[in-house]
This record gives sequence, structure tokens and C-alpha cells, in this order.
Amino acid sequence: MTTTPAHRADLLAQARAVLDANWRDGFTVPSARQYPYQWSWDSAFIAMGYARYDQARAEQELRSLFAAQWADGRVPHIVFHQATETTPYFPGPDFWQVEHSPYAPVALRTSGIVQPPIHATAVWHLYQHAADRERATAFVAEIFPRLEAWHDYLYRERDPQNDGLVYICHPWESGQDNSPLWDSVLARITPRPDQIPPYRRSDTRSVDPAERPLDFDYDRYIFLVDFFRRRAYDDRRIYTDGAPFLVQDVLFNTLLCRAEQDMAELARRIGRDPTPFLTRGQATAAAINARLWSEEQGLYVDCDLTTGAQIAVPALAGFMPLYAGIPDPARSRRMVRRLEGPGFGVIPDGPGFPAPSFDRTAEGYSPRRYWRGPVWIQMNWLLMHGLHACGYPRHAARLRRAIVELPARSGFREYFDPETGAGYGASAFSWTAALLIDVLYNELTDE
Ligand code: GLC
Repeated sequence: MTTTPAHRADLLAQARAVLDANWRDGFTVPSARQYPYQWSWDSAFIAMGYARYDQARAEQELRSLFAAQWADGRVPHIVFHQATETTPYFPGPDFWQVEHSPYAPVALRTSGIVQPPIHATAVWHLYQHAADRERATAFVAEIFPRLEAWHDYLYRERDPQNDGLVYICHPWESGQDNSPLWDSVLARITPRPDQIPPYRRSDTRSVDPAERPLDFDYDRYIFLVDFFRRRAYDDRRIYTDGAPFLVQDVLFNTLLCRAEQDMAELARRIGRDPTPFLTRGQATAAAINARLWSEEQGLYVDCDLTTGAQIAVPALAGFMPLYAGIPDPARSRRMVRRLEGPGFGVIPDGPGFPAPSFDRTAEGYSPRRYWRGPVWIQMNWLLMHGLHACGYPRHAARLRRAIVELPARSGFREYFDPETGAGYGASAFSWTAALLIDVLYNELTDE
């Protein structure tokens, strides 16, 4: 499929229309029916799209997310702004009950867990593409202390062994809810029926259940939330009481490492010392290389903190350290060979629709079910930048083509079939639109 200038202009207009429809006077919902509130890492990606054509909106998107930051620095994964939607959402604020924590905000209702820390990266993106630099510098100065408190929270509360890697305590914290990455950990969790609070899923109401997680997984998601709320979201208690899910995740730590590098850039713009951020980022990069590389897989894998063992399964997330410049050239080459293989099919000019979120030749793969195989636009976007920066522009170009082609064929869907290109999950999905905008702006400037 070739994109003519007219076709690009049309796609841009459609993408902006998606964001306009999802804008709620201060923040953007990922999708009006399926996710009718503000999500943390969605907002960061969405702000990167706005940064290309509406600086004020990009700033406001992040400002309204950070307005819900907890007193301990955590940025909650959902902010339940005053509901404008009629669609009920589960788990909503009444289920999370974060008011039990002394750190939760009083003015806004939120969830009690977090998502990948890509916010400083979004702010740096916003600065770089700002039409009004002076205004951007003022925004950096305004939000910098909040970003700093967010990263401090992660290193303080989520790295109990002080080894440079932070843990996540729920699959939702990874952003990759039902990835096969979590299968072995979730299988170990065997709550009695009375330990799972009664609940009713809302996610399978407007999306085909075949495209969503299984009830087995959902029971465990809810059991874990209950475990946290019983401990008032106190990370130390959660850790010392033996939380059943503690994982040092590649994607989460990579994005933190990259965000620290971007904090150093931001620090320089406002006369702050970049050194502490660079030092912390380097320590995380070194830990990722030392602890999360799998020689057998030829990519990075998560570590199950409960057993100390690597979770040796081939998820696309295992290639993300390219995005923070973490692997050396030899490891990068190995990863690219693996990416080119039948499991991921990221070959310049290759067929199909890269890149599946999970190796299509591995056990646990499904082309349709959520994080077990479908293509996600934000994962393609991260990997595209990583491959480009590490010296693989033709592989990066293949991913860029998929970022444009998939929504052009199948609409602004939440995820796509890597084999047929069919769209699945929510429709009119915000980060699919926002990142398409970002990529199209790059194409326009390149020419
Ligand atoms: C799903 C995704 C997560 C995303 C959220 C809102 O839970 O797995 O990554 O942030 O939806 O779009």
C-alpha cells in the first residue's frame, strides 16, 4: 500500500478526529466505550501526538494526569475524573478504595497501581517538537518536580534490594495485561473462591470475549487488587507480606531507564544538574544487561522476583531495551536476527503485519487474544525508534509502514491481527491515532 500526500492528509484528519472525539475538556479517554477515564501511559503517548499540532493540549493532557499524583509520588494507572460517560467501568473507584491510603489524593479518585513510566519521555518529545520553545521550557519547569517525585517513588518503593531494577506487582502495571509472560506466575496463585471478591467484568460487554483475557486471569487480577487494598496500597507491607506477583519487567525498566536519560535532557533545559538522572539510568541499564538478558532466547526476559528465576518466554517486549540503547552491538545484532525470524517477521519489505506482541511460533501465542499475539501500535512505535537508533533503519521503516497501514486498512483499533491485519478490541482508540499522527509528521518533514 502506498500513501499519497492526499491519503496522508486524509489519515491525519481522521486521526485528529478520533482524538477530538475522545477529548474530555482536559484529558483524553483511550476509548469512549471501553476505557472511559484517563489512563497513565496512554496519556503520555497521546500527548506525543498532540505535541505535533497542539502544544497546549499536549501540556494539559499531562497536567491533568499529574494532578492525580499521590503524595508518595506514584502516578496512578487510572484517574477517575468526574464521569461524563454513561458506560459503567469495572473496576471503578468504589472497588479500588484508595481512600484507605494516607497518600491518595482527596480531590480526585484513582486506582492504586501504576503503569510504565514513559512520562518524562513524553515531556522531552513535547519540548523537542514545541512550536513555542519558551512556553515549553516553562512547562518543563512546572512538571519537572512531579516527574522527579514519580521516579523517586519507583526507585524508593519498588527496588527493595537496591539493585537498579524496579518491580511491578500486578500484570496491569506492565501495560501488557494478559501476556504469556505472566502465565507461570499467575498459575502459582491459587486463591480460594472466598478470597476473590464478587465482581462483574465490564470489558467483555462491548468487545468480543475471544479478544480479551480469560476469566482465570481476571480472577487473579481481582484477587491481587484485593490484596493491595487490604494493605492500604502500602508498598512495604505488600512486599513484606509476600505479594504473590513480583516481577522485574523488561519493558517497565527499559522505559524507566530511557525516562531517566530524558530527565537529564530536561534538567539541562531548566538549569538543573543532569548527573543524578544519568547515574540512575546507567545503573538500571547495567542491571537490565546483567539480570534480564537471556542467552538462550537471544532477547531480554523478565525476572520473577519470588523465585529469582528468569521468565524465559519470547515477548516482543524483550526487544525494547533497544529503545534505551541498552544492548551492545553484538547483542543488538542477535536480537535483530531473532526479530527477522518466523516468530516476529520484522524483515525489511517482508510480508504480513509486524510485529506480533508474542512470538508466533511459541506456546501461548494467539493472533487474536489481546496481549498474546496481536500487534499494538505503541509497541511498534517504541521498537521502531529503538531499531532506528541502533543502526537498523530498514527494519524500523518496516514497523513504520505497519503503523500507517494497519489503521488505514482496519480503522483506529486497539490491536491488530499480525496475520490478516484485521482490527480487534476497542474502536476509535486514542494512542493508535496519536502515534499515527506522530509518524505521519515525521514522514512529512523527511520529504
Ligand atoms: C489495557 C492495556 C493497557 C492500556 C489500557 C487502556 O488495559 O493493556 O496497556 O493502558 O488498556 O488503554
